[in-house]
Amino acid sequence: MPKKAKIIATGSYLPKKVLTNADLEKMVQTSDEWIVTRTGIRERRLAAADEYTSEMGFKAAEKALDAAGLKPEEIDLILVATLTPDYIFPSTACLIQDKLKAKNAAALDIQAACSGYLYGLLLAKSLVENGSLRRVLLIASEKLSSIVNYQDRSTCVLFGDGAAAAVIALQGPGFEIEAVCLGSDGSCGELLKLPAGGSRCPASLETVKNQQHYLQMAGGELFKHAVRRMETASKACLKILKMQEKEVDWLIPHQANLRIIEAVGKRFEHLPQERVYKEGVAKYGNTSACSVGIALDELSCQGKIQNQEHLLLTAFGAGLTWGAALLTKKSK
Ligand code: UT7
Repeated sequence: MPKKAKIIATGSYLPKKVLTNADLEKMVQTSDEWIVTRTGIRERRLAAADEYTSEMGFKAAEKALDAAGLKPEEIDLILVATLTPDYIFPSTACLIQDKLKAKNAAALDIQAACSGYLYGLLLAKSLVENGSLRRVLLIASEKLSSIVNYQDRSTCVLFGDGAAAAVIALQGPGFEIEAVCLGSDGSCGELLKLPAGGSRCPASLETVKNQQHYLQMAGGELFKHAVRRMETASKACLKILKMQEKEVDWLIPHQANLRIIEAVGKRFEHLPQERVYKEGVAKYGNTSACSVGIALDELSCQGKIQNQEHLLLTAFGAGLTWGAALLTKKSK
């Protein structure tokens, strides 16, 4: 059997500043009670004004490289999943390549919104397994506070900033990437988008006046898609591997909303509630591409995952995009 790629190390970074529901009560007409009952979010992190997506991604990457015992020059490719890049170009991956002094690495951004970490995982897995590259550094980093309108209560309570990183290689202990299943449906792109600042609607005084540089979302519609897509992607992933639902030891869904997490969790009846990861949503809110990466890093650092346990990661986001990945912890 050809060897499968593994996540041999992880890292994450959360900015220091905490924005609580009580803080938001002072900014928009909302309440801690509404936010907690509708979303499960209690607080989120905000990057400092001079703390960019590249900076947070760099910090998460340094931790992952440290954990892997690798020097930056040993990395062949840097992938950065983000929908809040520092610039449209140059890519955030290039900015991080420079900060890390990863002088032998190619660099590429991935735009798959909240599913970006899983899209990156499949790219990294394929490139490592087919022998094109030895080591890929996958980073997810988001400064969502830069595109959120803090006068719009329907979105500003939901999102937070942060970063996650993973090193993918063939050799070493870690999380074997058994399979990744991805999907998309561009016909629903209108449900979550940033209208201005691209080539269709370039920045102008008019777009700024109309607040088109802020994220816009049809939350209720997305909710239904999120549950359905994460369930079907997860089950498709198991089917590829001819695995049963009851073989899954941990479910790690995208941390957008506690009600979505619980609804997806219910589709895996055998799983005790404490094995459906939900701690991130309360502490960090929706960190888009980073959320499953931060979750994996936290669970892994807490030593909660035992050898040979199976983890099912699943995500959903703008595009629409979605995906699932089945990982197995391997101690060697
Ligand atoms: O990251 C991947 C993509 N994102 C998602 O998957 C997000 C999916 N959607 C959601 O998480 C939920 O739909 C939301 C949390 C965004 C909204 O929850 P909801 O239960 O669908 O609420 P709603 O949008 O139907 O709003 C219910 C009411 C509305 O008032 P009326 O029209 O019923 O009088 C809103 O105006 O709640 C109101 N509302 C608020 N009230 C207090 C909306 N936001 C707030 C708020 N505080 N922050």
